[in-house]
Amino acid sequence: MYKPQFLRTAARASIRPRAALLSQIRNQKITPQFSTCSFLRKESDRKDTDGQHGAATTAGEPGESGAHEGQFARTDNEVRVQYPEEENLPRSTPVQGRGGLHFKKTLASFSMEGKTAVVTGGARGLGLVMAQALAQSGADIALVDLKKDDAVSSAKDLQDQLRKENPDSEKIPKVTAHYADVADPASVDSCLAEIITEHGKIDNLVTSAGFTENFSAITYPPDRMNKLWGVNVNGTYLFAVGVAKHLMEREVPGSIVMIGSMSGAIVNVPQPQAPYNAAKAAVRHLAASLAVEWASNGIRVNCISPGYMLTALTKKILDDNPTLSKQWTSLIPVGKMGRPEDLMGAVTFLSSDASLYVTGADLRVDGGYTVT
Ligand SMILES: NC(=O)c1ccc[n+]([C@@H]2O[C@H](COP(=O)([O-])OP(=O)(O)OC[C@H]3O[C@@H](n4cnc5c(N)ncnc54)[C@H](O)[C@@H]3O)[C@@H](O)[C@H]2O)c1
Repeated sequence: MYKPQFLRTAARASIRPRAALLSQIRNQKITPQFSTCSFLRKESDRKDTDGQHGAATTAGEPGESGAHEGQFARTDNEVRVQYPEEENLPRSTPVQGRGGLHFKKTLASFSMEGKTAVVTGGARGLGLVMAQALAQSGADIALVDLKKDDAVSSAKDLQDQLRKENPDSEKIPKVTAHYADVADPASVDSCLAEIITEHGKIDNLVTSAGFTENFSAITYPPDRMNKLWGVNVNGTYLFAVGVAKHLMEREVPGSIVMIGSMSGAIVNVPQPQAPYNAAKAAVRHLAASLAVEWASNGIRVNCISPGYMLTALTKKILDDNPTLSKQWTSLIPVGKMGRPEDLMGAVTFLSSDASLYVTGADLRVDGGYTVT
């Protein structure tokens, strides 16, 4: 039997008047969206059987069960990170202690010997470490970056590291550095021509050039949004098409690995970044679409979707927003952010014959973030 409507209304009003409740919520930093949120259910929809939990259902008023409602599932428009000027991001160096001679048995199909791999965004960060993984597996490498000087230094560091780790080796993989703005078709074409001249061929591509920024969608400057999509989406597409054309002309198989992000599958919180999330979803589906289109040419296309990895950019974001580190790691089942090294196995697997029957896949390297 239902209580009369007015009794229910009076009871709820006596517990927490709506106006006071909403003003209390509005004063909390985590809930600025409540003030614009329309109510989900009419008061009359509430059933007695909901009991004390009714306030936590769609029958309740926004914020009625507490200011925590949606706390860990919402973006916060106050988090704003503009991609820093390049001079504010340090270049990185090859990681130590992951290569060199070892005597552990492993599958020969993981070897990249005899292959030439292009890595865009290879001057630093994830790109450089993934290039290192492929070089340690035997591939010659072309590092491509907007920052040619950094790419030149990284190519030298990488070769020095390979020499140090393999003192008795007769042949150290060749590592070259090249300029390209991946978003510019003419720049991509001339870069690929330069690489083919220097290496004679290309077998593999890893597209790591990309960046993220945080603005609420309402305030995102359109020119920055275009730039973000230009680099993350167009840049990935242009390089993939350029390398695929080359492979088709040679009539040989090849493997392309696109670096997406877990942001292409979930919406990160609390930092707002709708264009980046959409761009990375585009990268993931581009990999699947091109995998189908080029399967008959023996060209495999896969995506790696990293979670939070500690690189120069993420370090800067965390320096500027100290509370984010706790929020991020609290949402990762493994409880930790990844390091660039954690992508070494994934990129080698997808680039080599170890993954010969894998195409169109999205390999999440995110500590379990996207499965919760
Ligand atoms: N770091 C993370 O936590 C993380 C997580 C998921 C995905 N990703 C993705 O991984 C990729 C690499 O990220 P990172 O953290 O190593 O970034 P990073 O900034 O350290 O490295 C990116 C590199 O790309 C280069 N680059 C930028 N714009 C370019 C352009 N137009 N043409 C050529 N090169 C250009 C930069 O100069 C830089 O060397 C990006 O696509 C990023 O979105 C990163």
